[in-house]
Amino acid sequence: MSVLPLTIMTHPLPPEWTTSLNGRVRLVVGPADYAGIAPHLAENLEEAEGILCLLTDIIDSKVLSISPRLRVVSNMAVGVDNVDLAACTTRKIPVGNTPDVLTDATADMTMALLLSAARRLAEAAADARDGLWRLWAPAGWLGADLRGAALGVVGMGKIGKAVAERAQGFGLKVIYTDLQPMKGVQAEFVSFDRLLTQSDFITLHTPLNESTRGLIGESALRKMKPTAILVNAARGSIVQTNALVMALREHWIAAAALDVTDPEPLPTDNPLFDMPNCLIVPHIGSATRDTRRRMAEMACENLLAGLEGNKLPYCANPEVYQK
Ligand code: DGY
Repeated sequence: MSVLPLTIMTHPLPPEWTTSLNGRVRLVVGPADYAGIAPHLAENLEEAEGILCLLTDIIDSKVLSISPRLRVVSNMAVGVDNVDLAACTTRKIPVGNTPDVLTDATADMTMALLLSAARRLAEAAADARDGLWRLWAPAGWLGADLRGAALGVVGMGKIGKAVAERAQGFGLKVIYTDLQPMKGVQAEFVSFDRLLTQSDFITLHTPLNESTRGLIGESALRKMKPTAILVNAARGSIVQTNALVMALREHWIAAAALDVTDPEPLPTDNPLFDMPNCLIVPHIGSATRDTRRRMAEMACENLLAGLEGNKLPYCANPEVYQK
């Protein structure tokens, strides 16, 4: 009888999302509450042939160097900034991700954040709960209009496009910046600087890499309008947290709405949590029942393909298959 390949699943997933793995792998599952590969799993790396991981797990050359039998890394996320892709490619290890399936959910969440920040929902809800809603207040909790305002999209990939379509439905005028103009996009391509100075709302949809890490720091924030609202549903480290604290405290910009933070989770004593003009939710952009289930299923498909010597259906480093 052949021995099933050992796979490390860094965190538990609902069993009904991973039924395809039953009888095909030997699973070692990490704890729900530890960010990364839990220390007690490390001893399994020597034998592991597959890793099914989350975006909070760093898979770098250190991990790879103690995993000599590894044949696939399957990340349950579209973003793969937590995985050293180059190191995996060098070792001919394919890395799976979960593209497309979360585009709508993340774009919906971006609009939810944008609308919530524009209309000060978190602040108004807290005030209502705290008894500060005494009378209908003609000049209370005034927010920003969307129709006719400019939305700057940083990164016009699939999610950026899905956000632009939704935003146009609300009457926002969309401008965008990217490495180059994108085909088939009904929005004006502008420089990063112009986007910063002209946008009423700015939403981030770039992958995290060395050129986008810290992109929104003091210099960028100071160029934005004092009425601007920043939305981040991409990766926390695209924004410099300390600079954002200063920007919100000193009113360089009006508000921020964040699905992602740096670090993640953001410590509860971070000043951003005390600011009424900052809304923070716990990286839930893709958190709809169907989307998260499908992400897990795709991660299992990738894992099994890699373990069984097949091409990954959703592969972030397809160059591993070049001869
Ligand atoms: C991803 O898949 O990269 C998302 O951030 C998950 O919500």
